[in-house]
Amino acid sequence: MRRKVIAGNWKMNMLPNEAMEMITTLEPLVKETKNEVILCVPFTDLFYCLNIAQGTNIKIGAQNMHFEEKGAYTGEISGKMLKSIGVEYVIIGHSERRQYFNETDETVNKKIKSAFANELKPIVCVGETLEQREAGNAFEVITSQTQKALDGLSDEQVINTIIAYEPIWAIGTGKTATSDDANEAIKKIREKICEIYGQNVSERVIIQYGGSMKPSNAKELLEMSDIDGGLIGGASLKAEDFSAIVNYDK
Ligand code: PGA
Repeated sequence: MRRKVIAGNWKMNMLPNEAMEMITTLEPLVKETKNEVILCVPFTDLFYCLNIAQGTNIKIGAQNMHFEEKGAYTGEISGKMLKSIGVEYVIIGHSERRQYFNETDETVNKKIKSAFANELKPIVCVGETLEQREAGNAFEVITSQTQKALDGLSDEQVINTIIAYEPIWAIGTGKTATSDDANEAIKKIREKICEIYGQNVSERVIIQYGGSMKPSNAKELLEMSDIDGGLIGGASLKAEDFSAIVNYDK
């Protein structure tokens, strides 16, 4: 049985004092869960969050990294830097980064390799636009993104990659994919992984759903056969909402 992984993506929100307050409130609400709990926070919150989450079951991740270890890349943060302060996870290839910061399948692949080289666990985002879905290309888009993202990784690395299926039209819009649609898309991603890496790998990869997941729809989504967790934006900013999603199975 695959575990459920519930990850928050704070995006460009939360000052350190707000971040610490949120985690302090969240901690007692999620301490009994068997599900994995991750918060991916802005760079400026990482140090504070790592400190306050120490000794709890809340794990801390970043939202991006550069693929080089160091050098003349003004404004960038490397995987090595993240690892050096104790970060465990890193989101790679979020659609907002692909859309606004020119991330490509190629840079996503390089970043994933660099994350593993620095012992970070990547949460890799794939997802189709509304146009692509309406044109009937959704599955082709997401399986191709997945294949290119994972290119050159070992079986072990693929097993340790978390994939987040996030239909772009569902992010921050209040529109959620139906649980059947989300499950079907995730099954296609798993089939592609099976085709390339075999069933032993594909059955073990965690594939989350992301896009307007909230307390009211989390249970239905997370109970689907192939949805192994959620990547949650808006609803991860409040401890009450995020804990309700983490505790969907209580
Ligand atoms: P949302 O964001 O939950 O606010 O739709 C999800 C994401 O972008 O990861």
